[in-house]
Amino acid sequence: MFKRTHNCGDLRSSEIDNKVILNGWVNKVRLHGQVVFIDLRDRYGKTQIVFNSDNYVGEFEEIKKISMEDVLSVKGLVRPRIESAVNLNLSTGEIEVLVYEFTMLNESATLPFMLDNRDNAEENLRLKYRYLELRMEELQKNLLIRHKAYQATRSFLSENQFVEVETPVLMKSTPEGARDYLVPSRVHRGKFYALPQSPQIYKQILMIAGYDRYFQIVKCFRDEDLRADRQPEFTQIDIEMSFVDEEDIFNYMEGLTKHIFKTISNINLPDSFPRITYQEAMETYGSDKPDLRYGLKLIDLKHYTDVSDFKAFSSVERVKGIIVNGGEKYSRKMIDQLTNVVKKYKAKGLAWMRLKDGSFDAGISKFFSADLQEKMQNELDIENGDILFMVGDKSKIVLNALGHLRIEIAKRDDLINTSKYYPIWVTEFPMFEYDNDNERYTAMHHPFTAPKEEDINLLDTDPSRSLSRGYDLTMNGYEIAGGSIRIHNPKLQEKIFSLLGLSKQDAIEKFGFLVEALSYGTPPHGGIAFGFDRLVMLLARTENIRDVIAFPKTTSATSLMDESPSNVSDSQLKELGIIINNSKK
Ligand code: AMO
Repeated sequence: MFKRTHNCGDLRSSEIDNKVILNGWVNKVRLHGQVVFIDLRDRYGKTQIVFNSDNYVGEFEEIKKISMEDVLSVKGLVRPRIESAVNLNLSTGEIEVLVYEFTMLNESATLPFMLDNRDNAEENLRLKYRYLELRMEELQKNLLIRHKAYQATRSFLSENQFVEVETPVLMKSTPEGARDYLVPSRVHRGKFYALPQSPQIYKQILMIAGYDRYFQIVKCFRDEDLRADRQPEFTQIDIEMSFVDEEDIFNYMEGLTKHIFKTISNINLPDSFPRITYQEAMETYGSDKPDLRYGLKLIDLKHYTDVSDFKAFSSVERVKGIIVNGGEKYSRKMIDQLTNVVKKYKAKGLAWMRLKDGSFDAGISKFFSADLQEKMQNELDIENGDILFMVGDKSKIVLNALGHLRIEIAKRDDLINTSKYYPIWVTEFPMFEYDNDNERYTAMHHPFTAPKEEDINLLDTDPSRSLSRGYDLTMNGYEIAGGSIRIHNPKLQEKIFSLLGLSKQDAIEKFGFLVEALSYGTPPHGGIAFGFDRLVMLLARTENIRDVIAFPKTTSATSLMDESPSNVSDSQLKELGIIINNSKK
């Protein structure tokens, strides 16, 4: 190999007449008889290199065999391109390198797909040959954004006295939310470690240990159903602070978020981020991670439908709707498709009517008297040509179904301005959710989240109404961070465990060490964790989390490149005392 003097993005006209050495991949080959043009590529850019049989000293037939993705090392002379070949879109577009000597460092096998466009192959094939896909500009750009996001995070937090501390990857299995990934212990046969769903308990213990401001960019593992913005192993910016309340945490985290967006994308986020309560977010947007890039707010309609003749809504708990402009373009077929969207979220159907020439038309309009129609027009922000979609059902179903309908309509009607970023804090989450299947409460955030001071009494009387000191930071419809002020009183922590249905015995077995630690001088503390991959998704403007992770898993948690998970040998299993039961369930 000739060692490179420049990379493939370096050369400019100032280097004309200089001898250079380049190493790189063959991006494109153009044969013009006794002249061969090749775009040589590395992660810095592309340079046009030229083999001309008149100047080339070696065997010219060898040059004609060069093909896509071969790795070459070339020696040559920088010269100006002829005027018609100058490419100002390319940093090296004014020059080319006339090659007089080259070595083939590695010949590429025939490619499973062309690397000029990611759409050339199904995602599964691209994931199998991830190293090829990673050569493409889009993914290289994303990984560079990711790299810069690590740097921006570390510099902001370090400058603000946060200390980076690593916490164990092999830890005790604790019931926290999702299913654990378990690791069998060879030394302690029959016992298991768990991979952390998050370093939650460790970071609280670091506060007890006096570390005051902690952070870690850390892998977390959750065995849960995967979606476009979820991976079984993902990265958090994990943060904890002592002697703070919500305001301190919001202030620092707004600073961190603004710093990351400014440094990487030169985006100025608002000085201070708006806030909305969980209840208001659900009522207005049908989501606890509202996308504020468009309107389409949910409106209450029950007081109208109750006095209409539309009986299907008379016995339901709630009726809400969305007003959409340009109702004319909503054909029967489109309305059927939208009906399927709400049905996916358990709504029984989607009612609708259009406002045309001052009165409601089509759909369920005939059930609304002229007076009622007039009242609705006066009171609602509705105009001729608008269509009103309505869902009636139990509150939870109405909000959830309309929340998803809102997103679907915004996408279909192209209402989303993708260059805008709207951060918003969501606060005042309920402490608990009732799990009907298991007939017990579960923590809405996690069991270490403090209740609001004024709601502590409700824990004894009506826990379902108690609100927590938890908060999420959401942006453009994504939950990018979640956290809370923690319980720092061991008695209150024990009470929460018992409300969550953990027997005293269980609580001691699973969390005894935490409760004990809480009794040795615990500062009031709180924290948050950012979904780092989601932050990078927003910065890279992609909706697929796999686009910002070098080696992601599929939605069925497999890695197609290295074929994990995989079988292990009988001797490995024997050593661990594990027998595989292949019968289903
Ligand atoms: P939480 O469970 O809300 O909080 O997680 C914090 C953030 O991590 C991201 N996230 C994920 N990203 C990708 N794939 C996943 N499977 C996934 N799950 C979560 C989200 C989320 O907002 N220990 C607490 C934090 C705290 O209280 O300080 C925790 O883990 O962006």
